[in-house]
Order: sequence, then structure tokens, then C-alpha cells
Amino acid sequence: MASNDCEGKCPDCPNGGTHENEGRRTILSWIAGGGALASVATFLYPVLKFINPPAVTEAAVNEASGGKVGDLKANSGKIIKFGNKPALLVKVAEGEFKAFSAVCTHLNCTVQYRDTTRQIWCACHNGTYDMSGRVVGGPPPAPLEEYTVNLRGDEVVITKKA
Ligand code: FES
Repeated sequence: MASNDCEGKCPDCPNGGTHENEGRRTILSWIAGGGALASVATFLYPVLKFINPPAVTEAAVNEASGGKVGDLKANSGKIIKFGNKPALLVKVAEGEFKAFSAVCTHLNCTVQYRDTTRQIWCACHNGTYDMSGRVVGGPPPAPLEEYTVNLRGDEVVITKKA
């Protein structure tokens, strides 16, 4: 380490420099180090925000319109939006509707109604549910969530069960 009493030239300073030069180098290395640290932080901040995103509260949706009663023919189904998730509305017979969450309980694929088997089917891994939402085939570990279907005039209204 350089001493302060070398009067100008300092043999301990790098390249025979002076204490003044050593001071400049120290300041420059602090600035360069700060810049490097800022660069690393600029890179890491978005990466960390991507890995750990802020919690987004989903709007609680308890009701959705399934359209008009006459929109579906008997023994058919359609996917509708239930908040930010899909729901499956099935017209089992004239005047008889059923509705379920359309999110497969296996790996979250969207299920569909099959009129040929009168079952709910997940194309991803051949999961099958009956018209009560129970698993009757394939890998799904749990039944589909069933919704309540009511008619308001000629509108089909789907609500979450309490
Ligand atoms: S995601 Fe539906 S069966 Fe696998």
C-alpha cells in the first residue's frame, strides 16, 4: 500500500504514478464498478419480475350468459366464457341444460361435449366425464365443477353453485 509521505513519485503506486493518479484510478474504478452493477441490475430486474410476477387478483365471476334457449339444438354443447375461464353449456334435451367448468382436471385442457357418446371428452389425453361431471375414463383425477343453469325469459344463465 502506498504511503502518503512519498512526496510526488510513489514506487508503490502502479506504473510509478502519483497519489493523485491513484485517486483518479480509484474514482474511475468506482464509476466503472457502479456502471457494471447497474448493468447487472438492469438485466436481473426483469428476469426476477418474470420469474416471480406480482399477484393478480382475478375478478370473481359467479354468473355468465349462455345465450338464448334456442341457440343450441338438443344433444349439443358449446363453450362460453365464464369470467376468464371456459365453461361448457350442454343442451341435453329440449328444455334441459347442464353446465360445467370446461377446464379438464388433469392438465387444464378445454373439454368438449360429444354428441355421439353423450359424454364430455378431453382431447388432450382422452379423459372422459359423464353428464354429472364424474370421471368415467382417462387420467383426470377429479370431476368437473358443475354449474347451475337457470332460464331468465329465453336467456340461459349459468351460475356457480354456492
Ligand atoms: S388434460 Fe384432459 S385428459 Fe389430460
